[in-house]
Amino acid sequence: MTGPKPPLEPFHAVEINRLAHARARSGLDVIHMEVGEPSAGAPAPALAAAARSLRGGRLGYWYSDALKERIASHYAGWYGVSVAPERIVLTPGASGALLLAFTVLFRAGERVALGRPGYPAYRNVLKALGMEPVEIPCGPLTRYQPTAAMLEALTPAPAGLVVASPANPTGTMLSRDDLGALAAACRRLSIPLISDEIYHGITYGERAASVLEVERDAIVINSFSKYWCMTGWRLGWLVSPPGLAEEMMSYAGNIFLTPSTLAQHAALAAMDAHEELAAHLDTYAANRRLVMDSLASIGITRVAPADGAFYVYADIGHLTDDSLGFCKRLLADTGVAFNTGLDFDPVEGHRTLRISFAVSAAETAEAMARFGRWLSSR
Ligand SMILES: Cc1ncc(COP(=O)(O)O)c(C=O)c1O
Repeated sequence: MTGPKPPLEPFHAVEINRLAHARARSGLDVIHMEVGEPSAGAPAPALAAAARSLRGGRLGYWYSDALKERIASHYAGWYGVSVAPERIVLTPGASGALLLAFTVLFRAGERVALGRPGYPAYRNVLKALGMEPVEIPCGPLTRYQPTAAMLEALTPAPAGLVVASPANPTGTMLSRDDLGALAAACRRLSIPLISDEIYHGITYGERAASVLEVERDAIVINSFSKYWCMTGWRLGWLVSPPGLAEEMMSYAGNIFLTPSTLAQHAALAAMDAHEELAAHLDTYAANRRLVMDSLASIGITRVAPADGAFYVYADIGHLTDDSLGFCKRLLADTGVAFNTGLDFDPVEGHRTLRISFAVSAAETAEAMARFGRWLSSR
């Protein structure tokens, strides 16, 4: 077959974001809770380090060994896990790490399992690479996460599994035991387990367990975008199993050369900005409570247990079966931007929405008040 590949589904969050910006340009106010990004910027030491390296002049292609070592020590500090710096591959965001992992691990035509709802790029990047995403429908009974039994029930067996904990859009987590069971199932099937840990550090009870605590040969995806508030800096990393590290590095070098040099300087400093980052967590925790309470008070009670990340994923099937239209009307009428669940679940997402609460406490309170008034006036 020749010609371009079939088109990918659009990212609806981008469309709602575009409408929200158009509204702001026309002089109307907007509360942005449609995109998954912290409204706070990079921590102050990161900005200072970036300014120093800009003044230093030449920002050539560069790979920071110091940052790889610092990330390796982060695994010892946060999880008590020993990771050799050689296993860390720096990438342009978690997006780059996902592209790298899928490219190295799977061949065109292979089937790769993932939970639905889930982050849309898993499905779409797999498709872009000619692989076949196999979605495992997950609901409240399993906290919207796939289980070992669900994985092992797939026929034919997939060539790999992708999980995320805390997940996007639900915020739900896999415990250390859940990860252990999934890792054991992947071992039985002789397939790689890819664990997206981009929301680690942002949790509201239990800390998030890393897959590396239970499986040395799993692949970890992570990034400076979320906990470290550095979305636009485009820097992330992948932890490779020891036997694949060289191959990962040579693919990464060919696909990306190096990640952003400026971002690597900044990220090294960001990794020690604990106090500043902890303050954001207090805001997220208060916002999460406010969103959950406000939803409950307006009768939206089928809500995923948001263990971590900065999202609330809610079933609004009693209000609409067109969540995209619902979000667009809400934006047009009130200036509050939420995202449709369709991005995360092409099958059931017409009845769900995702609220991203990584904004200020005042914005969260105002958005939920407007949402409540809008619903009662419909
Ligand atoms: C679960 C998940 N993985 C990966 C990414 C990509 O993040 P980035 O490329 O900014 O590091 C995102 C972004 O929202 C995400 O939610």
